[in-house]
Amino acid sequence: HKHLIDITEYSADDIMAILETAVKFKEVNERRIKQVPTLKGFTVVNMFNEPSTRTRSSFEMAEKRLSAASLNFGGSSTSSVKGESLVDTVETLCSYKIDMIVVRDKHAGVPRKIADVSGVHVIDAGDGKHQHPTQALLDLYTIWQTKGRLDGLKVGVVGDIGHSRVCGSLIPALKIMGCEVTAIAPPTLLPARPEVLGVDHVSHNIDEVLPELDVVYMLRIQRERLEGAPYPSLREYNMLYGLTEKRNKLMRPDCIVCHPGPINRGVELDSFMADHPERSVILDQVYAGILTRMAALYLLLGGSEDGITA
Ligand code: CP
Repeated sequence: HKHLIDITEYSADDIMAILETAVKFKEVNERRIKQVPTLKGFTVVNMFNEPSTRTRSSFEMAEKRLSAASLNFGGSSTSSVKGESLVDTVETLCSYKIDMIVVRDKHAGVPRKIADVSGVHVIDAGDGKHQHPTQALLDLYTIWQTKGRLDGLKVGVVGDIGHSRVCGSLIPALKIMGCEVTAIAPPTLLPARPEVLGVDHVSHNIDEVLPELDVVYMLRIQRERLEGAPYPSLREYNMLYGLTEKRNKLMRPDCIVCHPGPINRGVELDSFMADHPERSVILDQVYAGILTRMAALYLLLGGSEDGITA
């Protein structure tokens, strides 16, 4: 592959190759000197036109650990505020003979546009309500490492599914890897036609589904979408769908809890669940962000699975 923009362009074998490469990079990350010369001579531009903590910092760290040169760029500090177009901005950056652009933008479709006009490799780091493919990869890696498999796992995805770019990549990725997926949300947070999601089941009642699940994936409630909406309020959402101490009793003993971050504590997740020592894998997901992004950078820039020099 030249780009990582749409996870549905990747087969189960392609995804597994990335996850297995991430396992190899785990060794690099756990050494005292956490750097390999693997991408020396390559230049990656991180163009973040929207806020980010995890994605931005882990891409930058992944690039440093692979010895690539990084240029961090974007948002209100660029000449886009003076009216410079996206295409002119990209052409300006490409005249530095860069190799890759990692882009986050509030508009869906920006990564594809950059791929079309630039000729360099592009990774989508989250575009509008479209996709966030490296989030899906780090989620799959975490679930695979924790549960020992992906095929046949029962995964519930809970919350603001209709507006979520995380879901735009996660749900197809789980299906590609053979999981059974249930979308769990009030009707107001689902698409008007939930069948477009491609999930196995849709439920409006988390308490009925929780006892069956191997993995419960809580989405961030985008407060701006609930506040002022007739249903549900944030308080109702916590009561009806939030993972609370009470709901812990409904879950299988080995069911794990994922969340992409940032968390709204007391809304979709109570601290009891967010910090639960056996169930919560949220910080494992953050760590997997570096490993899977190292793997994606390396493979897209021409590395092979067996060519890693640790
Ligand atoms: N999960 C995620 O994309 O987090 P950031 O917005 O902090 O990068």
